[in-house]
Amino acid sequence: MKIVAFNGSPRGAAGNTHIMVENFLAGAAAAGAETENILLVDKKIGHCKGCFACWLKTPGKCVIKDDMQELLEKFSADIIVFATPLYVDNVTGIMKNFMDRMIPRLEAHIGKDENGECKHPVRTGHMPGLVLISNCGFTGMEHFQVLELLIRRIARNMGSEILAEVYRDGGGILESNMLLLKPFLMHYKKLLRKAGEELVIDGRISDKTQSKLEKPIVPPEQYLKTANKFFAEELQKLEITE
Ligand SMILES: Cc1cc2nc3c(=O)[nH]c(=O)nc-3n(C[C@H](O)[C@H](O)[C@H](O)COP(=O)(O)O)c2cc1C
Repeated sequence: MKIVAFNGSPRGAAGNTHIMVENFLAGAAAAGAETENILLVDKKIGHCKGCFACWLKTPGKCVIKDDMQELLEKFSADIIVFATPLYVDNVTGIMKNFMDRMIPRLEAHIGKDENGECKHPVRTGHMPGLVLISNCGFTGMEHFQVLELLIRRIARNMGSEILAEVYRDGGGILESNMLLLKPFLMHYKKLLRKAGEELVIDGRISDKTQSKLEKPIVPPEQYLKTANKFFAEELQKLEITE
């Protein structure tokens, strides 16, 4: 089984999303999957021009010559992981840009799905399973509402099944190296590895692991207090240096 993750954080390997993906993929690899972790920020991906050449002039091929050609080939994997921090309640610009450029995978013809909604056929006929991984700065799972809907629409468009969704609210602490937080973060990373492992072995994350993954790493009030203290101190430093 091959799993390819695309991470749309501008912070790349220094980010909180990366920590989630790395651990999830480590679990999947331990269960026997071949994994690849791609940081989109390191790739050259131009904006879709909206020219439809990939449908009409050169079917399946984009006119833009950049890294996207090689990235589209990765969709032959069994499972694709979209990983993104929450930006303005949505995916990052990097991820949206990448998603727009997925359009050569579809054919021009407009058909209908089983609910009578318009849909393009998938050119290759291969429909990888989908996983969505995201984290956000606020506490509260309601912040992922847009992503929950988005992944359902993407799965419909791609003719794919959603295999797993891992959302981390209060994700700002994932990269923290505060000694106090270490055991809590270690526990969360272990859960991520378990989730990756379960996905490979059982095709899904168990309800037990899913419910543990959704529990706050630290109490929300403590998270907000720590975050606001950090922001206040940083702003104070600025006042002192000015
Ligand atoms: C431009 C921008 C927009 C953001 N929008 C949201 C948001 O709508 N809701 C939220 O909870 N966090 C938001 N955040 C916080 C990020 O989701 C959070 O810092 C996350 O941990 C970043 O992940 P990363 O380190 O992988 O990039 C935003 C951050 C930035 C820079």
